[in-house]
Amino acid sequence: MTGQRFVDGVEERAAQVLPDPVLRYVRQGAREGRTAAEATAAWDRPRFLPSVMRDVTEVHTATSLLGTATSSPLAVAPTTMQRGLHPDGEVAMARGIAAAGSLMVVSSNAGSTFEDIAATGVSWWLQMYLTAERSTSLPLLRRAVDAGARAIVLTVDTPVVATKYDGTGPTVWDAAEPGWVRVNFPDGYGAAPGDEKATDLGPQDVDWLAQATGLPVVVKGVLRPQDARRCLDAGATAVWVSNHGGRQLDYAAATADCLAAVVAEVGSGAEVYVDGGVRTARHALAALARGARGVFLGRLPLYALAVGGAEGVERMFTELGSELGEALMLAGCASAECVPPDLLD
Ligand code: FNR
Repeated sequence: MTGQRFVDGVEERAAQVLPDPVLRYVRQGAREGRTAAEATAAWDRPRFLPSVMRDVTEVHTATSLLGTATSSPLAVAPTTMQRGLHPDGEVAMARGIAAAGSLMVVSSNAGSTFEDIAATGVSWWLQMYLTAERSTSLPLLRRAVDAGARAIVLTVDTPVVATKYDGTGPTVWDAAEPGWVRVNFPDGYGAAPGDEKATDLGPQDVDWLAQATGLPVVVKGVLRPQDARRCLDAGATAVWVSNHGGRQLDYAAATADCLAAVVAEVGSGAEVYVDGGVRTARHALAALARGARGVFLGRLPLYALAVGGAEGVERMFTELGSELGEALMLAGCASAECVPPDLLD
């Protein structure tokens, strides 16, 4: 089959419609931007050794992430500022993801209310940054639980927001309209002592979050096997290999290169997810072969949202899911849930 893919050139099409400060914000990496620039190249490197003479009459991309059924292992990573990309922001993203049968992680800094996001029927998890004074996070956590979040994703790579240089001109914060971010926090949040990001996160916070919410806790931002082990020992139900899309420590290793060692350490003890630079179904297939159960996309769905709203997001996920199905078939794998490591050369 031939034809125009929605995903082809979607970043360039988004660049034509987005205000410059928003586009620069989405694209930016920390400092020199080395990690952000290298992420996709690291997924471009693996080569496959397809198995032949396997029964691939039926190929299943469907899987589950912490028990939530999804049409494929591809899901949406948490990103702020979605209302800067589309007037309906996270709600449009959620509509598209619900229609595609996937799952969305909602940023704690979202510009749409948890209740409006949940009303789309999407399966969603809440991403959290913990504050120095942990109890100030409780109202947000309770609100998410009440609105139907199914898991908490604790981002652990951000004791401070890394410095970015994204060119000249107004920043996204100059351009942002009221209500683009942080609408789920109580009034006045952010101003009191203790509202700043925690710099002393530890294993005890995993348990604290699980107790406070009654939900499974996923730890996002792990690159080292030893840290994955500490998360599991602390009670995490999943570990997410991420360098924050190259937006935190610049020169951090590519997630494509860190995934396999984390998977080896975790074994069957927990689900392992990955994000960072994934742009095609072949990248996702390589991630599955390296042991990821879920493959999360950050910037790509943002560009789809900017270009086509909910419909664009649905189209992107449907297209990537169908390409993953074809890649699985050609690789000799009948299911996204059992891609063997030796698929990689
Ligand atoms: C992010 N990311 C992010 N992560 C997080 O835990 N909480 C957040 O609020 C945000 N916000 C955010 C905004 C924008 C504009 C981007 C691009 C990224 C990081 C995100 O979840 C993910 O780790 C990376 O985006 C994955 O890399 P790719 O897919 O963008 O290459």
